[in-house]
Amino acid sequence: MEKALQLYEGKAKKVFATADPKLCIVSYKDDATAFNGEKKGTIMGKGIINNRLTNRIMSLLEKEGVPTHFVRELNDRETLVKKVEIVPLEVIVRNISAGSFAKRFGVDEGIVFNSPTIEFSYKNDELGDPLMNSYHALALGLATEDEINTIVKYAFKVNNFLKAYMLEHGIELVDFKLEFGKLSDGTIVLADEISPDTCRLWDVKTHEKLDKDRFRRDLGGVEDAYQEVMRRLIGDVK
Ligand code: TMP
Ligand code: ASP
Repeated sequence: MEKALQLYEGKAKKVFATADPKLCIVSYKDDATAFNGEKKGTIMGKGIINNRLTNRIMSLLEKEGVPTHFVRELNDRETLVKKVEIVPLEVIVRNISAGSFAKRFGVDEGIVFNSPTIEFSYKNDELGDPLMNSYHALALGLATEDEINTIVKYAFKVNNFLKAYMLEHGIELVDFKLEFGKLSDGTIVLADEISPDTCRLWDVKTHEKLDKDRFRRDLGGVEDAYQEVMRRLIGDVK
């Protein structure tokens, strides 16, 4: 499958059209940004790692009954996906306090919740992705009630699976962000990526951060952390 016109360039990925109007090609970049693009950098090899990890996780999620946009990996950085219209909500699930949750509620990082939380942000860079509840999303027509219910159901399903999967590999799943899309027939599917860019992943024993927080917070060892996640989940780092 060949790339045609570039449809979109985001902060971490490019999306290309293909000869088939129902399919797109996603190409993962090494570019990293944080704080709504204010901080910019490069994480060498990140694109390859995030492409492979996302595809592995999405293939496993399909088997768990979560439909995704994944079709097939084309090469190190490129993947064939179903064309979707992205629902403009960032869906965040948390198992342990960290990041904006810890800041907003004035609590330490590392509090293990009895049950996971879910929240939405309005995917809008100009506004800085503001927190939004489901009634706001309905009021603005960003999704229907049925779509929101489906998204919540899938998000918790992803959490149940991913938490156990990470733990098997010595990783604590602290929190993560998902994006969903709609196929041309309206079906909701998981889209975007699931990677150390979009998840907080801590070593289960040392609680060492193995994710993009190393970049956001200038902790060093960013590339090593991504490679470590890749090594634990997939095994071969090239
Ligand atoms: P937060 O604690 O900053 O709200 O982040 C929650 C999770 O969402 C964390 O795993 C990082 C991920 N995330 C993204 O994938 N993209 C973003 O733009 C932000 C702010 C967070
Ligand atoms: N990628 C996001 C941005 O630059 C932020 C983040 O992941 O922290 O807006």
